[in-house]
Parts: sequence; C-alpha cells; structure tokens
Amino acid sequence: MNNAPIDMFSGFNEAQQRHKDLSAQLRKHDDAYYNQDAPLISDGEYDALRTELLALEEKFPELTTKDSPSQNVGVAPKSGFQKVKHALPMLSLGNAFNDDDIEEFFKRIGRFLSLGDDDVLELAAEPKIDGLSCSLRYEQGKLVQAATRGDGETGEDITANVRTIIDVPHEISAPCPDIIEVRGEIYINKDDFIALNKAQEESGNKVFANPRNAAAGSVRQLDSTITAKRPLRFYAYALGETTQPVADTQDGIRHYLITKGFQLPEPYAVLTDAAGVIAHYNRLIEERAALNYDIDGIVYKVNRLDWQQRLGFVARAPRWAIAHKFPAEQAVTVIEAIEIQVGRTGSLTPVARLKPISVGGVVVSNATLHNEDEIARKDVRIGDHVVIQRAGDVIPQIVKALHDKRSTDSHSYVFPTSCPICGAHAVREDGEAARRCTGGLTCKAQVKERLKHFVSKNGYDIDGLGEKIVAQFLEDGLIKDPADIFTLEAQDKDSLTPLRNRDGWGSTSAKKLFEAISAKREIELPRFIYALGIRQVGQATAKMLAANYGSYDAWIAAMREAADPQSAAYGELINIDGIGALMAEDLIEFFKEEHNRAFLEKLTSHVTPLDYDAPQATDSPITGKVVVFTGTLEKTSRAEAKAKAESLGAKVTGSVSKKTDYLIAGADAGSKLKKAQESGVSVLSEDEWLALIG
Ligand code: IVH
Repeated sequence: MNNAPIDMFSGFNEAQQRHKDLSAQLRKHDDAYYNQDAPLISDGEYDALRTELLALEEKFPELTTKDSPSQNVGVAPKSGFQKVKHALPMLSLGNAFNDDDIEEFFKRIGRFLSLGDDDVLELAAEPKIDGLSCSLRYEQGKLVQAATRGDGETGEDITANVRTIIDVPHEISAPCPDIIEVRGEIYINKDDFIALNKAQEESGNKVFANPRNAAAGSVRQLDSTITAKRPLRFYAYALGETTQPVADTQDGIRHYLITKGFQLPEPYAVLTDAAGVIAHYNRLIEERAALNYDIDGIVYKVNRLDWQQRLGFVARAPRWAIAHKFPAEQAVTVIEAIEIQVGRTGSLTPVARLKPISVGGVVVSNATLHNEDEIARKDVRIGDHVVIQRAGDVIPQIVKALHDKRSTDSHSYVFPTSCPICGAHAVREDGEAARRCTGGLTCKAQVKERLKHFVSKNGYDIDGLGEKIVAQFLEDGLIKDPADIFTLEAQDKDSLTPLRNRDGWGSTSAKKLFEAISAKREIELPRFIYALGIRQVGQATAKMLAANYGSYDAWIAAMREAADPQSAAYGELINIDGIGALMAEDLIEFFKEEHNRAFLEKLTSHVTPLDYDAPQATDSPITGKVVVFTGTLEKTSRAEAKAKAESLGAKVTGSVSKKTDYLIAGADAGSKLKKAQESGVSVLSEDEWLALIG
C-alpha cells in the first residue's frame, strides 16, 4: 500500500492513487469502528488519514466523488445494548512502573494507616489480565445481569452474551449473600485466539489484531449465538455490591469464589514487602510468555478488607491496589516524516509518521514525539531508525533514535514557530514544555478539537453526534462552537439544505439527532465541567469540582473569586484533594479570559447544568458539615482522617472561616485553634471527633 504523505504529490495520477488507498482504508476503519466495535487504529491515526484525504480533495476537487468517505456523515448505528448503572462504581487502578513506585506504594499505605513496625502489610498479587472488565450480578444465587465497565458508573447490559461464556456460573450454590456482584475480566486464551483467527480467515471474515480486540468484538455482538461460538473465558478478581460479607481478606474472597465455581487468575501470591513484590514481578516477567493468556502487569491488593475499607478511594482508583505494569513492547522502524498536531488547548505536538510496523500484534504508523525539547534531547531526525514502544492503549512512543544506523540523507526537523493550521504565532511560555498556537478560537484546529472534546464520551456524549459528525458540521459552517449544537434544530428549520436532505441523513436520523441533542439540555455538572475542556481538567477533576461546589453558579462564583490568591475561595480550591496550585492556575486563567466567560454565558443560555449531589452517606452526623483539622492527630493519620470525613459527607477545608462547623484540634494546635475559639467555632479533641463519627 502507498503510504507516502500527501505533500510528496504534485501530479494528479499519484494523487488519485493515494486517494483510492485512503478511501479504502477509511471505509475499512469506519466499518471496524461503527459496525464491528473494534477500532483498528487510534482516533488520532484515523483523523490523520481523513485530514490527508480532505487535503487531497481540496487540491484536486475532481476527486470528491459522491462515494468518497469525505461525503459520508451518517449516524453511527446505536449500540443496541441497554445501559446499566453500576451499584458500586467500577474503578480503574493507579500504575507502578518501577521499583521506586512499589516502595512508595508500601510507604504511602503505611503512612495512611499509621502502621507500626510490627504491623504486617500483606498484598495479594495476581496477574493483570488484558481483556475487558465485566460485573456479574447474582440475586438469590442466580445470575441476573452482566454489565460492561463503560465509564465506570454506567455500563452496557451484556447478560445474554455473558451467559454463553463457559467459565461463568449461572447459579451460585448456597450459602451466598442475597445480592453478590462478581467482577472480573473477559478474555480469550492465546491458543484459542490463533484458532479463531484461522477460522475467520478461512471463512473470509475479518481477523482480529489481538486477543483483547477479539474478546471485545465478540462480547459486543448483538446476536448472542455468534458470541456463543467464540472461545470467551472469564477470570474473577473482585467483588462489587454484596449484602453480606463473604470473607475478611482478599485471599478469602479468592477462596470463596473458587468454591463457587469461578476461575481465578494465576500465578497468585501473598507478599509482605517491597523486596518480595519485586522478586515476584521479575519471576512473572520470565513466565509471562509461557502463560496461555495475555497479561500486561500484576495487580497488588491490600489483603485485609478492613484496611481496604479504611484506605478507600481517591478519584477513580482505590488507594489499596496498584497495577505494576510490564515493560512495553518495542520494535524498530524508520521515521518518514514529522508533522504537527494542534490540540484543544493549542499545544503543537510533533507526531512522527512511521514506516508501518507491527508492535505486539498491532500495526503502528504514528508515534508521538511530545514536544520540541524531546526531539532535541533524543536527537531524532527524519529518516532515522528509531525504537518505538507501545504499552496498552497509550499512544506509541519513540524511545530513542539508533544513531549508528543514521543515513546521510536523514535531516533535522525544524520546529515551527507559527501554527501550521491557522498561521498564528506559536509561543512557548517560561517553564512550559509545549509551544502553543495563540490563535485561540480563530484557529480551526483548536476549535475542532474543543468540539470533539465537548461531545466525547465523558463529555456531552450525544447519541449520534460523534467526533466525526461535529467535525463535519464545523466544516460545513453549521456550527462554530459547542453552544451552536443546541441551535442546530432551529437553524435547520429555516435552512434551504436541511439535514434530512443531505447525504447519509434522512428524516428519521435528523429527527433522532435533534431529540438526542435536546435530551442533553439538562446535564450533570461533572460532565458539563469536563466538556469545557479546561487545561488539565479531566473527568476526575471535574467530578471533584462538582462535588465540592455542588452547583454551576457556586462553582463559577468561586472560580472568579479565586483569582485573588489571598481569598478564601483560592484556599478552598487548592485544598480539594487532587487539585494543586498548577491546576488552580489553569482554572483561574480560563475564567479570566473574556471569550471563555462569553462562551459560558452563551452555552448556559441553551443548557442547564444540574446541581450535583455527591454520593454520600446521608445518615452521618457530619454530612454537609465543614471541618478543619489542625495539630497532630494520634489515632489516625491526617490523610485518613480527611478521607474518612469526606466519605461521611463532610467538606474538609484548610482554614477556619465563618463557614467552619468543627475544628478538630490535635496536639500542639496553634493559630487555627485560636481563630476558632475567637470566632465561636465548635472545637473537638481527636477523641470527641472519633466519638462523633462513631
Ligand atoms: S482488581 C478497584 N485484578 O484492570 C479495581 N483488576 O486498570 C479492582 N484487571 O478495570 C481491580 N486483571 O478490568 C483487578 N487481577 C485483576 C485484574 C484487573 C485485569 C483490570 C480491570 C480494571 C483494570 C484497571
């Protein structure tokens, strides 16, 4: 296949050939994405193909035929699975990449739980299976529902398909809790995968890139008789909601599940210190290839469930578990070109276009070079042989250039000082790694990326309005910013070329789209905040902000007030767990910009962010109270005390104000205690506090 980038074409014939290749590739990827649910390339790679196709069509308009993928803006078929709200969220895991991270994990837990020298911290270690997570719900011993992880809060109902998996018991024998959720990973064994692909090939069907994709594609079949023919397996690794405890350790949970007929991941060990963990890890790296299933690391879980309970969660990951990742898979290839991608916040990211190469079963043709310093530091030139690596779903990286293989025609890349899309200056601020386009909302690339982010799965997530369609609407001039999405229906009514008459659209799909847009006129506050695309504000941060401020109005008022670093609002902001001074700065900057404020006003004239009630224990005596800790606590660490208070629905702040309900004063309390006494805030000793929260 011809993989030369577009700027190498001057003649029409070559362009036509390349257009044909690109069209074929895009059709294949559209099918994989929309119909098979098994994308073969990342969104970034897809966008690069599409951008190249559009550029070719701009240069040679006669290539824009009716059947070109550029004309295809159809609505993706709905997945066909019902949504399921998880009784308890399905979390993700923090990662450890090296020995230091493991030592720090032990220390962090020791500090949090205030463990003494005699306390033994046991970790249950089992392989991290590279499949897709699933929650099985049993009521009165019967399997009643199986759900995918989804976004962690809401997944999809895949019960019919999961019933076909041989490792999944349809019933659990007594004694068992009235409700018990068993969580685990659906996967395909390596040898079954090879046989499956062989059969696929022989029958003229598509072959899968790796066992994970094959498992994902099989689970998401709408016809469960197809799923039944696929060699899916299930490993159980944890519990979700249970109405009665079944064990008091992780080890006990494993034994319980084994007696109930589940398969559990092996090799398994209980380890008690960092040295033991590291030895276990090195042993498993050796044994990895001999296992019949793909694993991408080891998960360590604190064995005592009472300790797990005390440790709790931060953002979306438990404090009591960590994934120790295996080194990424590597390969050598050649850099054919370096191009710039302009991100949502204007950052210019250099992307190496590579001679396509298979890394651990997936074909890679792009790798990120991060920023200009990285290119210089690694001394990477166009034409160089490079080592690339791919770990899990992250964008492939360039590890190093093989300088001794450098050929005479390799040449350095000159990093642009203006935006390749809009031409505005690209500047690099002191202390920042990224050079950023200053075009703001006049830069088409930034506008497009913001729109894509706005409608993404964790943002507005409007049925039928994916990244590709908003990008198309932008190109067609139907929308200029995310708020315009909510004017589409009104615009359409007066349009001479209404949506329903366009290629790929009909009356039904247009009507459905407008209904789906209207359904999002009321939106959960965390999604709303996330969708704004403020620098560094991801899903977890958006949720923390929503939980802390509770309403849109309270949030924006606080963000404006926080512009003054002396203000109470600023103190409150940086006191939110997980928000540091740098993130606070990005938030404040966002609200300082006039155009962002205008945008928020426009957006909120169309949509209403709903007040957010953070899920909390409603019957606690400190629900909704504002508490401050000061001095040295003796019974628990400060971190545990704060986490406990928050889990009971209190808000923990760093300074005493008129809003403070309780000051908990440990030994040697100083100025905060004085201030609390002066302003009549209730002061509790540590024991009084513990008595209060029971
Ligand atoms: S324990 C609170 N154990 O890894 C989370 N997870 O990155 C408890 N996974 O979504 C997870 N093998 O799907 C656990 N032996 C194992 C696992 C495992 C694979 C997946 C799981 C989760 C993801 C987190």
